[in-house]
Amino acid sequence: MQTSEKGRAIAPSVTLEISAKAKAMKAEGKSVVAFTAGEPDFNTPEFIIEAAKRALDDGKTKYTPASGIAELKNAIADKLEKENGLKYKPSNIVVSDGAKSSLFHAFAAILNDGDEVVLIAPYWITYAEQIKFLGGKCVIAKTDKKSGYKLTKAEFERVITPKTKCLVLNSPCNPTGVVYTKEELKDIAEVAEKHGVYVISDEVYEKLVFGGAEHISIASISEYMKEHTIVINGVSKSFSMTGWRIGYLAAPEEVAKAIGNLQSHTTSNPCSFAQYASVDAFVGDEGEKFIAEMREEFDCRRKAICAALDNCGYEYIKPMGAFYVFMNIDRFIGKKYNGVAINGSVDFANALLSEGVAVIPGLAFGADNFIRLAYAVSKADIALGIERIAKFEKTLG
Ligand SMILES: Cc1ncc(COP(=O)(O)O)c(C=O)c1O
Repeated sequence: MQTSEKGRAIAPSVTLEISAKAKAMKAEGKSVVAFTAGEPDFNTPEFIIEAAKRALDDGKTKYTPASGIAELKNAIADKLEKENGLKYKPSNIVVSDGAKSSLFHAFAAILNDGDEVVLIAPYWITYAEQIKFLGGKCVIAKTDKKSGYKLTKAEFERVITPKTKCLVLNSPCNPTGVVYTKEELKDIAEVAEKHGVYVISDEVYEKLVFGGAEHISIASISEYMKEHTIVINGVSKSFSMTGWRIGYLAAPEEVAKAIGNLQSHTTSNPCSFAQYASVDAFVGDEGEKFIAEMREEFDCRRKAICAALDNCGYEYIKPMGAFYVFMNIDRFIGKKYNGVAINGSVDFANALLSEGVAVIPGLAFGADNFIRLAYAVSKADIALGIERIAKFEKTLG
């Protein structure tokens, strides 16, 4: 059977390839420290599991409205008002089967063929694949050490053209862990308003901020920004519910309506009982208690991995959010592992895997001289993994 041009254009996932190899090695009984996971290594809290069981017992097993049940939309609207200073009506909210799905439907609802979308490098590759698939064109805004790997006003201005439709902002960021301050968001908002550029604000890591960093939604910067931003979020990372597949977005009413309509023809409603369980995640204080404990543990690991990398003299972007460290591998490029040259992040990740450490190549984020280390592993594994990287370096010719 022949695949379509669109089907052929979708890039294979570098992430999945490395993860599959690491899994196969583990199955063979080899010791592998996997810094690859894109999900918290905590169980979903018991009170949420109980809520799902109750929903099943109560027969909440049928179709629901495609854009989500009223109870959950209300709970999300309350959350957005209380935590993010964003006043939305339930009609502004569309619940989905994951933030990834919300992103796809959001791009589909606003992009015309040839519209340009600004991505801030390093960026999550899913944005690029979805945008390309939907006929949009990715335009890459650069960041560097000097800008703290954040989008500056000048760089934003530089990449804007008459075809620019929107900017994708991801704070806290996967893979860099950078978190934008209110002042930085104001700068971005100023440029966006000047040029009439919309913002897709992916806030899935909002609860995982450390060392005094604060998550602020760009939609809360001004009424204008609220009217020109689609806020994307979900329960995956906040409540360790990655497998439950519940995400959501908040958007101006006409956009939310279009997305709801589209969703009714694609995914239809998100899982009924997962929606009911998610209501419990948002109401009451048990959810916040769980998040506080998870955040504290991640912060300890963040400090441990940064200290271990500092000990080895490795360069990395100081993470203030999410659960990733983006490490520079310039010093490894051009060296040889068992006679094979390391020419980029994929070669590096493959060679390192042979020494029992799995990492995600930076190529997956448009940064081939970096690797991503997820510290969703124990402190003992963090120590062992970094020790193995240092040992691996000594074997290079
Ligand atoms: C930046 C970013 N946005 C969105 C998602 C998707 O989350 P969900 O599980 O809700 O689809 C991820 C998951 O890895 C992510 O890293």
